[in-house]
Amino acid sequence: MYKLVIEGGKPLHGTIKSAGSKNSSLPILFASILADSPITLNNTPHLSDISTTLRLLMSMGSEFILESDSSLFIDSSKLTNLVADYNLVKTMRASILVLGPMLAKYGEAKVSLPGGCAIGTRPVNFHLKALEELNATIEVKNGYIYAKSEGLVGANIHFDQVTVTATENVIMAATLAKGTTTISNAAQEPEVSDLCFCLNKMGAKISGIGTSTITIEGVKNLKGVQYMVCSDRIEAATYLVAAAITSGSITVKNTNPQAMRSVLGKLIEIGADIKTEKDTISLDMKGRRAKAVNIKTGTYPNFPTDMQAQFTALNTIADGHSSITENIFENRFMHIPELIRMGADLSLEGNTVVCKGVKSLTGAHLMATDLRASASLVLAGLAAKGTTTIERVYHLDRGYETIEEKLKLLGANIERVQD
Ligand code: EPZ
Repeated sequence: MYKLVIEGGKPLHGTIKSAGSKNSSLPILFASILADSPITLNNTPHLSDISTTLRLLMSMGSEFILESDSSLFIDSSKLTNLVADYNLVKTMRASILVLGPMLAKYGEAKVSLPGGCAIGTRPVNFHLKALEELNATIEVKNGYIYAKSEGLVGANIHFDQVTVTATENVIMAATLAKGTTTISNAAQEPEVSDLCFCLNKMGAKISGIGTSTITIEGVKNLKGVQYMVCSDRIEAATYLVAAAITSGSITVKNTNPQAMRSVLGKLIEIGADIKTEKDTISLDMKGRRAKAVNIKTGTYPNFPTDMQAQFTALNTIADGHSSITENIFENRFMHIPELIRMGADLSLEGNTVVCKGVKSLTGAHLMATDLRASASLVLAGLAAKGTTTIERVYHLDRGYETIEEKLKLLGANIERVQD
């Protein structure tokens, strides 16, 4: 196992490029099951979640070739095994996205229940209920989902609660269903839209993309295409917060500022100078300390839950009091005890963290627990006085491509060392 060792206190300066989106690459890789011929995916990030997805698809009969450093050729047109095994699914919850495409293409699937994770129980009831409404028969036993269908039929689906991957599962299933499917209260995250754009390029007929009402007219088949994955808005935002927490100034290229409006608004509120061009975002703190900012997470286009931990870290050393409310997941506060060990003044009241900014944190020996909580600890370590060591760095590698290399490019004093 590896850990990160950070000597904090250095303002970050420089330019980096954002990678392709993890949460767009994952559904699109599973969508390759729907195609009758191979897909070439460009701008795919180098992440362990991508490798897990490829291992899962390969275990079902997919073949793939890494064509260049971020271009992936994948042929999932002839699966030979319709089982998504527990040993692979348990490491990545998004594996549930195999269910919709398998039902649509093969009329059956056996998928291990993903189980919970550090941030919550993460049930999949909305996925299963919606697929049943599309004429699937679903039974859950012995920790597996057994799904069958004589042929999916379009339906009007309403989600009582906005859910990203359940929306994606239904969209993928509906592309090959008989008739038309309408999803109301659909997730509007940019990654859902990216999946829809790719599916339409494959021959699907999806309208209402990016809105809360998506309509999918079923077609006979989908073909393989070349597709460029959108940029990762959460990775880009994380590096912007790294510059903000160290009172530095950085430029991030290959981004989509339009998809980051809520986060950019909060960065302006903390006192950052933000400049955006087509696909570039520059942040300059002009050496100033950040001002405290209140955060309430919500579904897109509101403030993303995936940036809550990072802004909590920023608030710990910001000037003033703040409150951070997590409205999406029931346990997305695993970073709080570790930040307190660095000297943060935080107290948890229900789903709200009350924060009193302190002048500085002190480095400490920390344990990463989940992807975004780990990012929050890295950010705190970059700002803290002294040395911060973060164990279980594999959590970070799920969603951040060579994080220590990118931070070194920005002048951080950070090393990845073997335990
Ligand atoms: C997606 O997870 C993302 N993952 C998450 O990113 C992200 O935090 C989340 O959406 C919210 O934006 C991927 O896209 C691969 P949800 P997902 O279904 O789809 C409850 C990261 O850090 N719910 O929108 O699993 C659920 O428990 C990851 O990159 C049910 O109760 O999230 C949560 O409280 C973390 N039943 C809420 O809905 C269901 O069937 C929203 O979850 C489904 C969800």
